[in-house]
Amino acid sequence: MKRRLVLLGPPGSGKGTQGSLLSAELGIPTISTGALFRDQIARGTALGVEAQTYMAQGHLVPDRVVNAMVQSRLGLADAAVGFILDGYPRNVPQVAVLDSILAEADWAIEAAVSFELPEELIVERLLKRAQIEGRLDDTEPVIRERLAVYHLQTEPIAAVYQSRGLLTPVDAVGSVELVADRVRRALEAGA
Ligand code: AP5
Repeated sequence: MKRRLVLLGPPGSGKGTQGSLLSAELGIPTISTGALFRDQIARGTALGVEAQTYMAQGHLVPDRVVNAMVQSRLGLADAAVGFILDGYPRNVPQVAVLDSILAEADWAIEAAVSFELPEELIVERLLKRAQIEGRLDDTEPVIRERLAVYHLQTEPIAAVYQSRGLLTPVDAVGSVELVADRVRRALEAGA
């Protein structure tokens, strides 16, 4: 199965949930930029303080910060056997930076899994998570802003991976297990 993966999809589409399952199954790390930022915020680092102001509004953290963080994470030993990028790249310039980071190691993305589900289901899932986890960006106005940013900045990435023959769309409606099964089948196809 392919082992250098990008997970695409709107906020709340299941990237984190499916990334964790795939990570356990394939024995490769999930690199979630959102989770890395939340960890920095929890630890009160300077990077966390900077990221928080953008995240709380549903806006993207500046590319220079994200790119440096991803480059350093991909340099750790565990990424040598493969990795699942969750939430990165998130705009077209980040795709180009990722390409050059990977090219330095003679690597390339092997598949970009794109989770698809209706917007109202997304909002429903995130408002439910808000009641459980209280994530700072899971309020309805910020969810709507994250969706707008997604459509404007992140959605165009799908066309880039499509043009490379790497885009792997997955229907994200249904149980976690059902979606996981679709992801597995999609990645096995043509492996
Ligand atoms: P990030 O953490 O990446 O947030 P996101 O993309 O908005 O995605 P979520 O974590 O909300 O959702 P998900 O798709 O992972 O779904 P999940 O599995 O959690 O980024 C947060 C912020 O960080 C950004 O807004 C930005 O500010 C900054 N950032 C991050 N990366 C950046 C970058 N590259 N550049 C610039 N800034 C960046 O599922 C959602 C919920 O649904 C959960 O409660 C889950 O339990 C539930 N669920 C999952 N699957 C199912 C299912 N099949 N059925 C029912 N419920 C389900």
